[in-house]
Amino acid sequence: MEAPSPELIAATAAEMRALGARLGRLLRPGDVLALIGPLGSGKTTFAQGLAEGLEVPPDRHVASPTFALVNQHPGRVPFVHADFYRIALREELRELGLEEGYAGAATALEWADRFPELIPADHLEITFVAQGDGTRRLVVRATGPRALQIAGAL
Ligand SMILES: Nc1ncnc2c1ncn2[C@@H]1O[C@H](COP(=O)(O)OP(=O)(O)OP(=O)(O)O)[C@@H](O)[C@H]1O
Ligand SMILES: [Mg+2]
Repeated sequence: MEAPSPELIAATAAEMRALGARLGRLLRPGDVLALIGPLGSGKTTFAQGLAEGLEVPPDRHVASPTFALVNQHPGRVPFVHADFYRIALREELRELGLEEGYAGAATALEWADRFPELIPADHLEITFVAQGDGTRRLVVRATGPRALQIAGAL
């Protein structure tokens, strides 16, 4: 399913945060974002913007969930932020109970493509492309009706 895809370019980390905040303001409980792209491409920076748009208190530190693997932040909608990079086995993810939490939160999954079977069918896939000049391009793909609605509002 293809949304009329806006050209999303972040020239700086601050612009990446601003893009995240714009999307974060649109999110509702049950929304899931798959953030895909190589190391350092801006996924966590974007997630910090999402937190801002979800009205997560600014004193919360939104960083790559390393030790805990998944972080939950309070906000206008609770924000669940997970990173599949260091997860080796699907069983580790099952223990985190992510799937049971999808309905009550807005969820962002960094490195979601490592375990695609854990992503709900209707999600917004955002691919981060680092361009040679330091800018990043975001390619947005909706996989269901709700994701299409979010992408259309972006
Ligand atoms: N245009 C840009 N957009 C986003 N980040 C940028 C940009 N230019 C420079 N940066 C810097 O690049 C780094 C991106 O790191 P970030 O942690 O967001 O990436 P990541 O995709 O989450 O990496 P990882 O896969 O390791 O989790 C940050 O230090 C950020 O300040
Ligand atoms: Mg990261």
